[in-house]
Amino acid sequence: MIIDGKKEAEILRDEIKKEIISIKNKTNKVPGLSVILIGDLVPSQIYVRNKEKNSKEVGMNSNIIKYSKDVTEEEVLKKIKELNNDKNVSGILVQLPLPDQIGKEKIINSIDPSKDVDGFHPINVGNLASGYKAIVPCTPLGCLILIKKVEKNLSGKHAVIIGRSNLNGKPMAQLLLKENCTVTIVHTKTKNLKEECSKADILIAAAGKAKLVKKDWVKNGSIIIDVGINQEGDKIVGDVSFEEVKDKAKAVTPVPGGVGPMTIACLLKNTLECFKARLT
Ligand code: GUN
Repeated sequence: MIIDGKKEAEILRDEIKKEIISIKNKTNKVPGLSVILIGDLVPSQIYVRNKEKNSKEVGMNSNIIKYSKDVTEEEVLKKIKELNNDKNVSGILVQLPLPDQIGKEKIINSIDPSKDVDGFHPINVGNLASGYKAIVPCTPLGCLILIKKVEKNLSGKHAVIIGRSNLNGKPMAQLLLKENCTVTIVHTKTKNLKEECSKADILIAAAGKAKLVKKDWVKNGSIIIDVGINQEGDKIVGDVSFEEVKDKAKAVTPVPGGVGPMTIACLLKNTLECFKARLT
């Protein structure tokens, strides 16, 4: 089975769109997403453009604030403070990576946790780790929704996550623990990477290495979620060698058209949740 992330994202966006219309009819208010983009990195520009396009399509207000790569940290912090206090702004996202003079930790910590649609603020990270209500980072949230389309009950499954980033690996582990999975995180310093992966009922590949996961890395009948986005010539490929694993796995996500579209749909979902939490 090939998991159609594009279709699942469309279903989620449709639900969000309907809910926004319904709330707008009652309150005349819609969610607002503000995105800060610093510098001129092409992938970041593409991501941000997609975020804006998608948020407008579901009926949200979207606002991109662009800065040149030499903007000061002070100026960005001032803008975030302004957005924190703006009642028309439901969600704030600062596109990563940031230029060297801007401290990532300082920036993330300055965002109002109740508007932190990325789920990167320590308050949200801590709440997620404690099993409390939290805003969950978009990529792992999208991965979990896709996994649950294949298998509803994940209790007792062995999940292996390749990669330990704050954006994906660590929150993914928390989400799967909450689903009662046995979770292993493997990374660049892990010994016997292949053997560890081959034990996985659910394998999440977020290593950032093109086609790292080969046929003999995966278990028969497993669910494989490919978070990788790597340029190979003029093609985008994932961290999984798709052609090699597709007949061995029970289900696998393609790249493109797998996790990517779900990530943006989950950003819209988080923005809607932040907006609803402020409606009184
Ligand atoms: N850069 C790459 N992925 C992300 C993401 O999920 N959020 C933000 N803010 N920046 C990113």
